[in-house]
Amino acid sequence: MTTEAIAEPRYSSETAIKVRGVQKRFGDKHAVEDVSFDIADGELLVLVGPSGCGKTTTLRMLAGLEPVSDGQIQFGDRVVNEIRPRDRRIAMVFQDYAIFPHLTVFENIAYGLRSRREARKVVKDKVTEAAQTFRIDHLLTRKPRQLSGGERQRVALSRAMVRDAALYLYDEPLSNLDAQLRHQAREDILTLHKNKHRPTVYVTHDQSEAMALGDRIAVMADGRIQQIGTGSDLYERPVSEFVAFFIGTPSINLFDMEIQADGDGAVMVGSGLRLRVHPSMTAAARAHVGQRVRMGVRPEDLHVPRMAPFEVTEENTLHGIVTLIEPTASGCTVYLSTAEGQDFVATFTVRLPNSYLDQEIPLGIDLSKVHLFDADTGASLLKGDIDAVSR
Ligand SMILES: Nc1ncnc2c1ncn2[C@@H]1O[C@H](COP(=O)(O)OP(=O)(O)O)[C@@H](O)[C@H]1O
Ligand SMILES: [Mg+2]
Repeated sequence: MTTEAIAEPRYSSETAIKVRGVQKRFGDKHAVEDVSFDIADGELLVLVGPSGCGKTTTLRMLAGLEPVSDGQIQFGDRVVNEIRPRDRRIAMVFQDYAIFPHLTVFENIAYGLRSRREARKVVKDKVTEAAQTFRIDHLLTRKPRQLSGGERQRVALSRAMVRDAALYLYDEPLSNLDAQLRHQAREDILTLHKNKHRPTVYVTHDQSEAMALGDRIAVMADGRIQQIGTGSDLYERPVSEFVAFFIGTPSINLFDMEIQADGDGAVMVGSGLRLRVHPSMTAAARAHVGQRVRMGVRPEDLHVPRMAPFEVTEENTLHGIVTLIEPTASGCTVYLSTAEGQDFVATFTVRLPNSYLDQEIPLGIDLSKVHLFDADTGASLLKGDIDAVSR
């Protein structure tokens, strides 16, 4: 039997991770309030949220580096709360890569294997294979200071690659890379993940990275998970204004409105607008007649009238003065301002010529795609529909 088999417990085959009601207090500070989620075998779950919301603390509790104040963490059918980090079979990749400056690239990658007394040939084969996968096999004799940031990052990924871990954890591993390298590094991380096919938790504050990498995404704020789901769940059916605003770039436009009954239907009035509520949302809207709401409109749901996939009428039009046109790969992003001085953003799949600058233009709002939030709590008024969809 190898040392590894003794030191590293086997978890049941469908090793899924269960996190139940986990909390972390540092003195008075409630860093993680109440977090629960499951990760299926082979699933990549992204924890995304603003700085300080408790992502790193959650990851450190999974790794065993931080004891939980309350709740339970299970690997397979085994509760690991009391299990030491080194005995949890975890591979971690950090923002600063945590590679040893005095060791060569080869020895850095081999480190975990050596400490488990793997045979020399096994170490050499595994290190070589990982280094080839991440295109650093020509750098194996170098020291970390002789590497670029991207290469160092690939050393950290190679080191995770040679491990046979039950759970892979990443804490903002791409933050120190410039935009171009980051794109390649995302692909490298997906390569590693597909190769291992193990439960993985990836922490980032960057929603576009979350959307690119996650099988599912958990949006965190103030020590709690606000919503967990696929990228399209979060984008199309956010449970709150916070999630709607956090996911998607440019961010969703928000307008203060009031719901009014109108015959059998409903209208939204406010921000210089009077818009008919789409039939799919009439029931939800009519439950909130007389209340202040926030209407969310994604930039791509605003259309130049002649290009709109629906009829543009007075009851779905928003007027704006064009203040900036930014060309993009697929068209342009247009910044506008309403007569009342509210800024909003539209994205088009066509280029708008600069002659539109300072001009007022009408835009059709796809009212079937808007979101309605309680102005006080931020909760989605369409949550009934959301529950029905995810069931
Ligand atoms: N060791 C600690 N002692 C006291 N407070 C901490 C400690 N670690 C983290 N915190 C606090 O807990 C909150 C969550 O931190 P963290 O998990 O690092 O957030 P994130 O990774 O999402 O930026 C922050 O307010 C942070 O200041
Ligand atoms: Mg952090």
